[in-house]
Amino acid sequence: MMNWDSLFATRMQQMKRSTVREILKLTARPEVISFAGGLPAPELFPIQRIREAADTVLAERGQEALQYSTTEGMPELRALIAKRLSAGKFQISPDNILITSGSQQAVDMIARILLDEGDRVMVENPTYVGMLTSWKPFHLRFSPVPTDDDGMCVDELEALLESGDPHKMMYAIPTFQNPQGTSLTLERREKLADILVRHNLPFVEDDPYGELRYSGEEMPTVLQLEAARRGSTTVDGSVMYCGTFSKILTPGLRIGWVAAALPVIDKLVQVKQATDLHTSTLNQFISYEMARDEDLLRDHVTVLRDVYRQRRDLMLKTMDEHFPSEVKWTRPEGGLFLMVTLPPHLDATDILQRAIKRDVAFVPGEGFYIGDGMGKNTFRLNFSNAREEMIVEGITRLGEVLKAALKAS
Ligand SMILES: Cc1ncc(COP(=O)(O)O)c(C=O)c1O
Repeated sequence: MMNWDSLFATRMQQMKRSTVREILKLTARPEVISFAGGLPAPELFPIQRIREAADTVLAERGQEALQYSTTEGMPELRALIAKRLSAGKFQISPDNILITSGSQQAVDMIARILLDEGDRVMVENPTYVGMLTSWKPFHLRFSPVPTDDDGMCVDELEALLESGDPHKMMYAIPTFQNPQGTSLTLERREKLADILVRHNLPFVEDDPYGELRYSGEEMPTVLQLEAARRGSTTVDGSVMYCGTFSKILTPGLRIGWVAAALPVIDKLVQVKQATDLHTSTLNQFISYEMARDEDLLRDHVTVLRDVYRQRRDLMLKTMDEHFPSEVKWTRPEGGLFLMVTLPPHLDATDILQRAIKRDVAFVPGEGFYIGDGMGKNTFRLNFSNAREEMIVEGITRLGEVLKAALKAS
């Protein structure tokens, strides 16, 4: 018998399966109402249009679409992404865009080109668990930045930057953060852009949810603000912006992108060549065929916004009615998640065990936090995936579980 455990590389000790994915397995029973995953609503996938797009691509450009292609990505798709990210004077060249296999791959490859063992990296606390899974094997020193209802507490950055060894990089989700659903205000974005420029700090702006806004004002990206702060009108600064079609089209196609300065794109291309040569040609062609119809994409995003807005509102209303007053939660203006904070003596993993007995699931917050024991009394709820009647039923049951747990404590 092979003893594989003694053979795995040391860096694998830093990796563990995502708790979210393990819970999703537990809750695969059809009777479970799950608020656990970050899944879009499958009933809204534009399946018929994707089918037509695939037909068109195969009929008109089949040989190209099924062939190996360049690592940078399909030129037309890069141009389309560059155009979608440009605004007014701020113009992005397709050369600044690399197509990736989902934005997860972009986040992963950025670490591989920039981070060495022991590097200090600033992250919001809590932050995206998929980034932590990818970056932890580099044995980094994470500097957690506290957050409140307006996103990262930007006023704390300067003191952190001036304490101890220099920081190599910062990672954040400024818009509709995962897990909290909160967003950086315009004032904080401007302060952040100013700090990035003054400290020449590389910054990963992870933005899978930016287009899913249901209320409040549209915000400029940190990518734009950082360029404006330097008096530039293009991508030649410290921001590496990661985007994706996963939440506005479908995650199954695995099409994401990075917009970054040319030297960064050059290094990312080298890593991507080593990783998977290039993103699926067929999926890039299909995504382009869909997205080049601007009306189609705009109308589809409008439908998603309308349905997700209703689901968010219904979840918040049901929580207002059924959750005990000792429990607090965020009120996101967009995205897919909100975060619940229990009184400190309650443990969200215990609550999950009780909730699963009532066929309701969510993700305990601890895994999103840097710092031992932090976030034990928090959990994340997804509001995009469950249908309206399931939201009411699931949240009502969860309210009962919470009331019983509080009474027993
Ligand atoms: C903050 C954040 N970044 C990246 C991703 C990865 O998305 P994808 O690889 O599907 O583009 C997710 C997915 O949930 C996410 O929440």
